[in-house]
Amino acid sequence: MKYEKVLVTGGAGFIGSHTVDTLIEKNYSVYVVDNLDQQVHGIERNLPTYFNKKANFTFCDVSNTEVLRDVIEDVDAIIHLAARVGVAQSMYDIKKYMDANTGATASLLNLLVNEKNSIKKLVVASSMSIYGEGKYYCEKCAEDRYPALRSTERLERKIWEHLCPDCNSPLKPLPTDENKPQMPSSIYAMSKRHQEEMCLLIGKTYGIPTVALRYLNVYGPRQSLSNPYTGVCAIFAQRILNQKPPFMFEDGKQLRDFIHVSDVAKANVLALESSLANYQSINIGTGRPTSILKIAELLNDMFNSSLVPYISGEYRTGDVRHCYGDITKARNLLHFEPSMNLEKGMPDLVNWSKLNKDHAQDLFEKAYNELKSRGLT
Ligand SMILES: NC(=O)c1ccc[n+]([C@@H]2O[C@H](COP(=O)([O-])OP(=O)(O)OC[C@H]3O[C@@H](n4cnc5c(N)ncnc54)[C@H](O)[C@@H]3O)[C@@H](O)[C@H]2O)c1
Ligand SMILES: [Zn+2]
Repeated sequence: MKYEKVLVTGGAGFIGSHTVDTLIEKNYSVYVVDNLDQQVHGIERNLPTYFNKKANFTFCDVSNTEVLRDVIEDVDAIIHLAARVGVAQSMYDIKKYMDANTGATASLLNLLVNEKNSIKKLVVASSMSIYGEGKYYCEKCAEDRYPALRSTERLERKIWEHLCPDCNSPLKPLPTDENKPQMPSSIYAMSKRHQEEMCLLIGKTYGIPTVALRYLNVYGPRQSLSNPYTGVCAIFAQRILNQKPPFMFEDGKQLRDFIHVSDVAKANVLALESSLANYQSINIGTGRPTSILKIAELLNDMFNSSLVPYISGEYRTGDVRHCYGDITKARNLLHFEPSMNLEKGMPDLVNWSKLNKDHAQDLFEKAYNELKSRGLT
């Protein structure tokens, strides 16, 4: 094993805690810093009960240089996952998102560059959100297309699908690869792009092998059930537990790529260990498209719920129509293969949500009204 002591920032969160478990199973010494953000961990900001007792925890914001300096002195690799994760919320809490994501990453890199340390590897969480719209194909023009966001005028008319800018025929979604031009459509996405680019640039400049992983839509146990800005699977689970139907924007036929958190944790450790992936940006998904409606139906079935998923026909500013991953690069460089499909992985989320029903606070409507009052839906 090349590294022995690994720091996971944001290691008390959803992806972080699973990554910590995977590292501990592999006999790494694991250190975690996390600020136990209230939106994720609740008003009391307690360390979650699922947190692995074998990990060393420090309550700390990544931008707190004084505390982080001491932790970094003790470790030889970092998996940097700490970030605020609400896409829609980032469009009105702009400074908070830039401080927690871009700013905190800048602080971390400042330490790596200016202070004595023995960091030999950095893995940073990036996101599919940096692509904006996914990649498409026009059959008539026989060419790939990278459309910009849909116009408000078309969305108002409920025309959800993209048309080819050259010949106006319908575009077909394709798996999105890492070379797709980036078009972040939220402050969150911009902050993820900053995190990725800053880490890769500093990594290359100072010879710290760095890998940026662009996760697609991650689902599974431990995703916050009270954060109304988090992933759609957790939001739907939280709604169903509160006897409210899953609420879908547009017609529910938007395609995404849902990857189980255990596969993401596995990818994080592969990226840590593999030198083939150094200085690369790599999609981590399943490569399979699934509609939001299918997720709502699947969860409804698995919860034995008779609620009828609600197709609102409303839209959110900045939402992309389709985006799912091309994972060829992950297969080639990390030898990564997702082991879970939705049928196998979704029961984990359902069972966990039932056990944690008390935390399933339905704040969706509050968040929705917040967006509505700002003209963002
Ligand atoms: N969940 C997804 O679908 C998804 C998709 C793409 C990328 N990501 C990225 O993966 C990473 C982990 O996301 P997650 O879904 O586990 O979210 P999460 O909210 O469950 O975990 C993030 C953790 O980081 C902590 N945190 C936030 N800002 C911090 C800061 N400045 N200093 C210290 N701790 C801080 C929070 O308290 C939380 O425990 C994030 O970087 C996110 O952008 C997630
Ligand atoms: Zn065309």
